[in-house]
Amino acid sequence: MITQENSSGKPLADAEWLNNHHRAKLPERKAFAEKLVEYNPKTIVDLGCASGLWLDVFDKVMPNDCSFIGIDSDEESLELAKKHSRAWDRTSSFMKLDIESQTSLIPPADLTLAFNIFPYIKDLNLFLKALFNRCPWGVLAIRQYDGASIRFGPMPTGKRQAIESSLRVATENSKKFRHYDLDRAYEALNSSPYKKMSYSFELFERTSPFSEDFIPYYRDMLQWTCDHISDSAAKYLSGWLDEDANYCMKRYFFEVDLVAVLS
Ligand SMILES: C[S@@+](CC[C@H](N)C(=O)[O-])C[C@H]1O[C@@H](n2cnc3c(N)ncnc32)[C@H](O)[C@@H]1O
Repeated sequence: MITQENSSGKPLADAEWLNNHHRAKLPERKAFAEKLVEYNPKTIVDLGCASGLWLDVFDKVMPNDCSFIGIDSDEESLELAKKHSRAWDRTSSFMKLDIESQTSLIPPADLTLAFNIFPYIKDLNLFLKALFNRCPWGVLAIRQYDGASIRFGPMPTGKRQAIESSLRVATENSKKFRHYDLDRAYEALNSSPYKKMSYSFELFERTSPFSEDFIPYYRDMLQWTCDHISDSAAKYLSGWLDEDANYCMKRYFFEVDLVAVLS
């Protein structure tokens, strides 16, 4: 069973999982960080920074006079982030905070990053209001995945629907996170106090033969799915995976993230 929990029990947040995810998506992540350079931030706060992988991307594109603050509630992840930061030629620091119950302690920043962090936040409306009030002049950048916009194939529609509905049943009552959070995020962003908002739905797509950078993420994602769905759906999915042990059959994978910039 792959739990992919970090040391404080947050799902889909363990360092190896995040690293594989990061490696697979590095080109898209670099392109997004480059877009944010135009805001010319002097300070960046990364909420739920985990092991600092996103800040590492920003380190490659932001001028050295831009300082970084990484925030997470997980001690082990912060230790890894501190190790990463030793290679950065800029002021950087890290804080152990619960961003929901200790929002008032989050330092103000020109640019605040909230990447795949909403699924862990109980009251998103209150959270966004508090983030805005702490620095009404700042820019907030959001990226949010959704379990319903991840697709791999080809496979018969009935088999896919059995996998998807089984995964929804297994995860929808989790007290730890929301695997389907894009709509709640979209509504909360629209009713937040931020005045300007731009949205897009960013496509991440790979077709076979899959690259070495993508395979670990793909394998982790499908294995995690197998571990959560019903026995019959898991039997089908693991057989489907085994059929393509060398990852070179004609297959595809895509997912769509909500990407938003608010100011
Ligand atoms: C899915 S990971 C996302 C990491 C990174 N932002 C990314 O997009 O790759 C979520 C991270 O948020 C942290 N986290 C979850 N809830 C939190 C909270 N209430 N306060 C602070 N950190 C939290 C977890 O410990 C984990 O490191």
